[in-house]
Amino acid sequence: MASTKHTSSSPFSLLGRVAIVTGAAGGLGRAFCLALAAAGARLVAADLSEEGARQTAEAVTAAGGEAVAVAVDVTNPTEIERMATTTLGRWGQVDILVNNAGLYATLSRRPFYELPVEEWERVMAVNLKGPWLCACAVYPAMKKQGYGRIINVASATFFSGSPLWSHYVASKGGLIGLTRSMAREVGDDGICVNAIAPGFTLTEASRSVMPNAEAYGVARGAIKRAEQPDDIAGLVVFLASDASNFITGQTMVVDGGRHLY
Ligand SMILES: NC(=O)c1ccc[n+]([C@@H]2O[C@H](COP(=O)([O-])OP(=O)(O)OC[C@H]3O[C@@H](n4cnc5c(N)ncnc54)[C@H](O)[C@@H]3O)[C@@H](O)[C@H]2O)c1
Repeated sequence: MASTKHTSSSPFSLLGRVAIVTGAAGGLGRAFCLALAAAGARLVAADLSEEGARQTAEAVTAAGGEAVAVAVDVTNPTEIERMATTTLGRWGQVDILVNNAGLYATLSRRPFYELPVEEWERVMAVNLKGPWLCACAVYPAMKKQGYGRIINVASATFFSGSPLWSHYVASKGGLIGLTRSMAREVGDDGICVNAIAPGFTLTEASRSVMPNAEAYGVARGAIKRAEQPDDIAGLVVFLASDASNFITGQTMVVDGGRHLY
């Protein structure tokens, strides 16, 4: 049987790379940290929840990887700057940024004309301004290195126009727009910017909003089973690696073929 062990000569290897993952306390973010570390990257697990980020860093270390935990509010430029400085202080470089932190399960489900203004502003601040601020903070180092990968976690709800949480859908649509525009600005710096649009994926957060989460949407899929965080992690590793050198400005839907756009 062929070995799946990564070597530095494999274009899929992340050996020598340093990755920041926001929203790393659990769910998709933790799965991304573990997958990036398994491919060889050193990790900064960043989250509003310091304890959750620490647990993820410990899980990476227990699996044989290297990780540090950082507490960050992605709406706060000072804390984001500290996250970037801590990364550079610890590892001397930053190659990969996964903008995964987002408000999702805690949001109201209501008609657009009943959404509270404060909630609209908060979701835009976390889901859209946050990724922009994080990208701004790592860009100087990526430009200097001549290498960077920015991966924005959007949502398939943008394409399906999922009703009753238009603020969430609009924030993820904005993130897809940000991805496209930033990609064109930094291509000559050796930086690729792409987005991932997961379908309904089983995490603690998604289970908390959907009573029968395991069955939700499964019948509609080309692949008839529930989506798991690891179904998306492979794409994150690919987009973080040299193997995706000529892919930028794209949004990739990972939903087992529930919607074919
Ligand atoms: N689970 C799904 O079905 C699904 C589908 C499509 C997209 N997504 C997106 O994937 C991402 C992760 O989702 P998840 O299901 O793992 O949910 P989750 O709630 O477990 O993850 C979100 C993380 O972001 C962190 N966070 C929230 N506000 C923050 C802030 N201001 N600063 C820093 N961190 C902050 C939270 O503490 C949490 O750990 C989100 O962006 C979500 O919108 C999820």
